[in-house]
Amino acid sequence: MVVESATALARKDVVGISQLDAGEIQLILDTAEELLDVAKRPIKKVPTLRGSTVVNLFMEPSTRTRFSFEVAEKRLSADTLNFSASGSSVSKGETLFDTAQNLMAMAPDFIVIRHPNSGAPHRLAQEVPASIINAGDGINEHPTQALLDAFTMRQHFGSLEGLKVVVAGDIRHSRVARSNAFLLDKMGAEVRFVAPASLLPLEVEELGVSTFLRLEPALEDADVVMMLRIQLERQKRVNFPSMREYFDFFALTPERLKLAADRAVVLHPGPMNRGVEIDSLVADGSQSLILEQVTNGVAVRMAILYLLAGGPSEAASDS
Ligand code: CP
Repeated sequence: MVVESATALARKDVVGISQLDAGEIQLILDTAEELLDVAKRPIKKVPTLRGSTVVNLFMEPSTRTRFSFEVAEKRLSADTLNFSASGSSVSKGETLFDTAQNLMAMAPDFIVIRHPNSGAPHRLAQEVPASIINAGDGINEHPTQALLDAFTMRQHFGSLEGLKVVVAGDIRHSRVARSNAFLLDKMGAEVRFVAPASLLPLEVEELGVSTFLRLEPALEDADVVMMLRIQLERQKRVNFPSMREYFDFFALTPERLKLAADRAVVLHPGPMNRGVEIDSLVADGSQSLILEQVTNGVAVRMAILYLLAGGPSEAASDS
């Protein structure tokens, strides 16, 4: 694997893993590793983005991504503006692009956007001079989630190369699954998607993953088991008989986790639906890295902002 010795991302935006190459992914992960230490300092702040303004434009609900970006921005000393659809003029019919033009009149340097429509961040990136970071667009991509997942796997195993990663749940409606498939393929890991046929995407063959209709065979020798919730908000009709039946066939229970490698770890991007896709004994068990993912998300988002801003100068110094 060829890794560039760059110290900044030579691009304006991070809208998808599909646009990043392996060198850029490795640079983000390496930078996040250095920035992880900021959280351990008595004063959890570096001056890198002092004087920069970041707009967090969230048109869909979020807990982890939204707060994690906000913490990352504050740790880099940026000024932050938080925007949600319900408390804004979007609820009065203003379009995304009119909203963005009005926000641009206040000269932000970055816009972090979560939007229900696939491709919205990509369009915005073409329209405005600010750097756009995709915090999840429809069923398309959630690049910062895949990067923090990869960071967590690499932190635990030392490398992504050759890892066997099971991604199980509502793959069809999951931007997390797509971004992970792109990233893990670029970094040399093997990806196994598991879902009932009704919850697999139509174009799954194009993603370079193997597919399973049952969890048990996919778990054999697996190093990582990533569980996904069922995204009922994106389904016009329910694609399986009942939650009880879903749990019986597809939930990760302690018994099923024993089928994976002894060293296997469990990930979940959240929010979890306990008793549907994951048993609480697994979610809270010794193999779970679910809360480490949240901690790592801050460092990964700091790294992306830092690298888009141009890389080193003051990141290592105290404020
Ligand atoms: N993983 C994730 O996107 O969680 P939130 O919806 O809470 O941001």
